[in-house]
Amino acid sequence: MSSMHFIISFILAYCLGSLPFGYWIGKLFYNQDILNAGSGNIGTTNTFRVLGNRAGLTVLVLDILKGTAGAYMAAIWGNVPSKEWLFFVGLGAIIGHTFSMWIKFRGGKAVATSAGVLLAYTPHLFVFASLVFITVILLSSMVSLGSMIGFTLVTLAAIIEQDWLLTVIAVALTIFVFYRHRENIKRIKAGTESLVPFGLYYWS
Ligand code: G3P
Repeated sequence: MSSMHFIISFILAYCLGSLPFGYWIGKLFYNQDILNAGSGNIGTTNTFRVLGNRAGLTVLVLDILKGTAGAYMAAIWGNVPSKEWLFFVGLGAIIGHTFSMWIKFRGGKAVATSAGVLLAYTPHLFVFASLVFITVILLSSMVSLGSMIGFTLVTLAAIIEQDWLLTVIAVALTIFVFYRHRENIKRIKAGTESLVPFGLYYWS
């Protein structure tokens, strides 16, 4: 892939990732601004929280898909030179989701869209991350904790599999995801993090 092809693919991936589905669905169908409701996040968790299950599920699927489709922007010139390019280009979608040009460069916490890029690059680790995420939520009732532990364990899995590109990217993304969850971390420490209405901790 030439540098020009990469730049164009990356910009297209950024544009896809930038689509703020949670925000738009809230505005269009619920007359709600999720940037100013709940946690103020445009991602899946806050969409479930503020707009309900149908909107939450829709945003979950769309946010994952824009990561996967963003990664595959690497293929618009015919073929992907090597699967690593799915990650390089997919980073554009993750940046777009987090700093969306449609909402003054605000955005989500990079969880679902990163998962979508992971799905394109290494589907079995997407399944692994999803299982970790679900298990942690079922135990703790905290989506934020599921997200952070999911990223951490994907990093460990990348090290075990000796996938050094994924290791470097997963370390960077894990640091970034922890940074984006800094308010959640404060709330977890203070015992005030929002809980989802299922999971052992919620019912304990
Ligand atoms: O993916 C975001 C999630 O981990 C936390 O979202 O809205 O509870 O801050 P929220």
